[in-house]
Amino acid sequence: MAALTINGKTQEVDVDPNTPLLWALREQVGLTGTKYGCGIAQCGACTVHVDGVAVRSCSMPVSAVIGKQIVTIEGLAENGVLHKVQKAWVEHDVPQCGYCQSGMIMAVAALLKEKPKPTDADINSAITNICRCGTFQQVREAVHMAANA
Ligand code: FES
Ligand code: FES
Repeated sequence: MAALTINGKTQEVDVDPNTPLLWALREQVGLTGTKYGCGIAQCGACTVHVDGVAVRSCSMPVSAVIGKQIVTIEGLAENGVLHKVQKAWVEHDVPQCGYCQSGMIMAVAALLKEKPKPTDADINSAITNICRCGTFQQVREAVHMAANA
């Protein structure tokens, strides 16, 4: 058993400490907005925030996040108000199939916290998430929209 702080709430999870955070989130807590893509920290579909930093939860053991603040896509909006990245995504119609998008949004939200006005080069180096639908151009435009919101 481990107690994790997820989206501001303490949640008990009954998993081996080496279990990737992704599976604790999806299977123990029922937060299925965080997606499984590759399982080897390559695609970014599983991105969440740990103490405000974007991490790939498929490769982060539960033991490493005890006592830290975990935020998933379900916790990004505050008091029913969408995060500015989510608003830009809706306005810019970014998602296609949507599978990669929660991870993409979490990665972008963390980037904007660190760099409020990222350049295209900043976006290219920080947002390495893979989108099989090829939404990269819309993602970049929506990042700039969110940065100027
Ligand atoms: S599922 Fe975690 S990076 Fe692909
Ligand atoms: S929107 Fe389909 S994989 Fe990115």
